Parts: sequence; C-alpha cells; structure tokens
Amino acid sequence: MVKNKKDTVVFFDTTLRDGEQSPGASMTFQEKLLVAQQLAALNVDIIEAGFPISSEGDFESVKAIAQQVKGPVICGLSRANTKDITTCWNAIKYSKKPRIHTFIATSDLHIEKKLQKTRKQVFDMSVNAVKLAKSFCDDVEFSAEDASRSDVDYLCSVVEAVIEAGATTVNIPDTVGYSIPSEFGKLIATIKQRVKNIDKAVISVHCHNDLGLGVANSLAAIENGARQIECTINGIGERAGNAALEEIVMAIKTKPLFYPVSYNIKTKEIYKASKLVSNLTGVVVQPNKAIVGVNAFAHESGIHQDGMLKDKRTYEIMSPQDVGVPESLLVLGKHSGRHAFFKRLKDLGYKLEQNVMEDLFAKFKLLADKKKCVFDDDINSLVEQSVSGVREVFTVDYVNVTSGVGVIPTATIRMIKTVKNKKEILQEAACGAGPVDAAYRAIDKITGVTVDLEDYTLRAISSGEDAQGEVNVKVKYDGATYLGKGMSTDIVEASINAYVHAVNKIVIMRGGKK
Ligand code: KIV
Ligand code: ZN
Repeated sequence: MVKNKKDTVVFFDTTLRDGEQSPGASMTFQEKLLVAQQLAALNVDIIEAGFPISSEGDFESVKAIAQQVKGPVICGLSRANTKDITTCWNAIKYSKKPRIHTFIATSDLHIEKKLQKTRKQVFDMSVNAVKLAKSFCDDVEFSAEDASRSDVDYLCSVVEAVIEAGATTVNIPDTVGYSIPSEFGKLIATIKQRVKNIDKAVISVHCHNDLGLGVANSLAAIENGARQIECTINGIGERAGNAALEEIVMAIKTKPLFYPVSYNIKTKEIYKASKLVSNLTGVVVQPNKAIVGVNAFAHESGIHQDGMLKDKRTYEIMSPQDVGVPESLLVLGKHSGRHAFFKRLKDLGYKLEQNVMEDLFAKFKLLADKKKCVFDDDINSLVEQSVSGVREVFTVDYVNVTSGVGVIPTATIRMIKTVKNKKEILQEAACGAGPVDAAYRAIDKITGVTVDLEDYTLRAISSGEDAQGEVNVKVKYDGATYLGKGMSTDIVEASINAYVHAVNKIVIMRGGKK
C-alpha cells in the first residue's frame, strides 16, 4: 500500500489499462510485462496492470505482473460487482502490494442512460463494492466515473460513504475531458472542504484529454489538494488519451515554487519508457510532443542555436538528460547560422582553414535550401567533395532532362569551361536510353572526352525522404580508370556530378590533352 505523505504526489500509471484502450494500442502478454518492468524502473507508485474480468488474456497478464514485477503497487480494475471484484483479486493477490480499483458512474447522465439505475442504487453499489474489496485487501480505490459532470452534493455523499466503507483512495475522473483547469481545481477544493472524512483517503484525479487539458487539469488538482495522479506514458488512452505522466512530473520538477510537493519518479527513465510504449503499441509520438517528441530538445533557428551554444538555459527550461534524452540536438537546416555549422564541423573532427569553412558554409546553405535537414553524413560529403583537390575545368551550369513513358529521354546541358581564368560557355543536347545516359552523351559532346562507363552505383546517404543520393562512377579512358563521385538530393544531378568529377580528373591529369 502506498504510504503517501501529505506533500508527496503519487503517480498511478494506467498505460496498461486505460492506455491499452487506445484504438490499435493492444499489447501482447510479453509486451505488457516489458512495459510493467520499465514502469517499475521509472519508479511509478502504482501500476494499473489491466482489467482482469475483461478477458482471459488480461487476467493472465495482470496475474503475471503481480507475480513478477516488484516495487510498485499492482492494481487491477473492476466494476462495482462481485464477479469483477473477485476476479480482480484473484489476479492481483500475488503482488506484495495489491490494490483493487473499483468504479461506477455517478453522473445522472450515466446513471440514468447507461446504467439505468437510480442514484440510491449507485450509492449502495459503491459502498457494497468497496466493502467487498476491503474484505480481500487493505488498499482499495474507488472511482466515481464521470465525476466532473456529476451533481456535486451527490458526488460528495458517495465519496464520504466509500471512505467510511474503507476506500483508501478516492478518484475523481474527468472521464470525458470536459473540465477546464479553474473549474476542475474548484471541484477538488470542494471535495476536500465538504467531505468530512476526506483526511482518511488520498484524493486522486484521472483526466482525459478531449479538450487537450488533461495535464493542465491534473496540475490544477494538485494545487487544490489531489495527491494521486492517474496518467499514462505518452498520454495514450481512450479517444484523445489521458494526461501524460512525463508532462506532469516535469511540470512539478521544473516549477517547484508552484508545486511544493515531492514525487518518486526517476525522471531519467522517462525517454526509455516513452520509446518502449511507442514501439510496442505502434502509437507514434508526435514530433513536437512535450518532453518526449523528437523535436522537444531540437533547435533549428540560427539565433536559437547561437544562444544554446553560449548558454543552454537561453532556450531550454529543462535539461534533456533529466528525462533520459542523451543530448540536445542542433538541427542543421536553412535557418542555421555559421556558429552552429562551424561547431558541427569541429565536433565531426575537421580542422579546417577559415576560408575552407566559409566556402563549406556557402555550400551548406545551398544544400539546406534543398533539404529540410542537413545530417552529419551530408556534411561529411560536402567536406570530402570540397577537399578532394580536383580542380574543376568543366562545371555544370544548366541541366534539362525529359523522360517518361512514351518519351525519348533527352538532355540539354550547358557547361562552363574554365582554362587559365578564361571562361567559355558550351552547350549540347543528346538522346539516350534514359535521362542519365542522355545527360552523359551530352556531356561527352561538350567535353570532347568520350569514356567507357564501367561501373555506376547509387546509394542514399543521410536519412529522410529528402536524403541525398550519392553516385559513384568508374570510367575508362585511354586504358586508365578514373573514379568520380557526386552528391545531390536529385539523383540525375548526382549522376551528372559524378561523371563530371571523373571527366575533370581526366582533363586535369592529361594536362588538357584529350
Ligand atoms: O475515465 C475514467 O473514468 C476511467 C475510470 C475507470 C477511472 O477510466
Ligand atoms: Zn479513463
């Protein structure tokens, strides 16, 4: 049983029960065990392991978690009836710290339309359910489903009666995520004030996210005396989900003056838990999700990156390491500035002259205009290309290729030939077996260097849909082999760059003689 001091907020994780009710999020027996082990590593106070009556599979996984997972209280959900409660007990009784969680709706809408009962009947069922659960174990939680839409006087009377019957935790769910923070905080304050025996139980809240306010409502509840928070990893759960554990705990950690409470969560385990739940359920975490989204500690703007490099506190209110994210990410893209780019070159181990770095920065900016993110592999290629030492006699100035079904692949290419600072513009068009072949024939005509293409390989370097393609060609000219490499987000352009790279080598090595 959780001994919770007045100033400690206990975390009740329902990823395996309410979270698993997320459409498409079901997990296998083994997967649930893995998640439960990680929740124990995260040091949640209570794991709601499932709803044992709902299926044989759920019963077995709750039982296995109760048998194998040490540390947290292991809780099972049950409706307010004998069969549910008995089945729940049979699944959780193996835990050293078992809890029965029984619930029934208290709003008139649910009582009349869903349960088709009277308030009096629901009142009696609540008390009887808690008494039965109490006959099995000390730790009993009662939830008044749809509490936030229930008549307050009636809700208070039920809460008082279930505490009298032995409930040690009383949960006030915002089942349909209908509340707003000021309203929900007031409801918790009212319960605290009006329910005579409230000091004998822990007030818990369980907020759904239909208006995107699950976390805000949970925090308002803490301010007004709630000391148990029901939540899930990544905020998964029915419909729009439940309040996200990671957001609540990090709000408390980051704003200690507002929330002078302690908690037992090991925040450094958050990221691992988030990844595990997302991988096992297939419920993807949105990139901009607070705390655990891939962009939560990523900075792209040049101004932000400059600030971050000077002092991380300029743009980070918490450290990524605190939640188990290895480090902040300075994403290099079109908004990035010199400071971040030069720092990345240095981190990648390059010691380059200032003028080379400036030249690379200009090339990086051109690339960043074409690509959303410039990755380390892209930078390595830029450096490789730039310092490979091949002087360019021929540079490509214009390319137009047409190809398709029922179209003869054609390429029109314009190149600039530079010899002793004298520039000459040359252009040609050619047809070929495909757009690359057509381009290569046009280049042959321009340069006057006709080679045998011995090998051509294309591979994606870096990641993402807009990854750069790297083309490597091996050409034979006059008995000798020359290699060429080209990079671009466009594979035809990469192919042309590789070919021209090889041709330039031929021209330079043969001293301009063809
Ligand atoms: O949302 C809800 O009201 C619930 C209860 C069973 C606690 O999930
Ligand atoms: Zn719920």
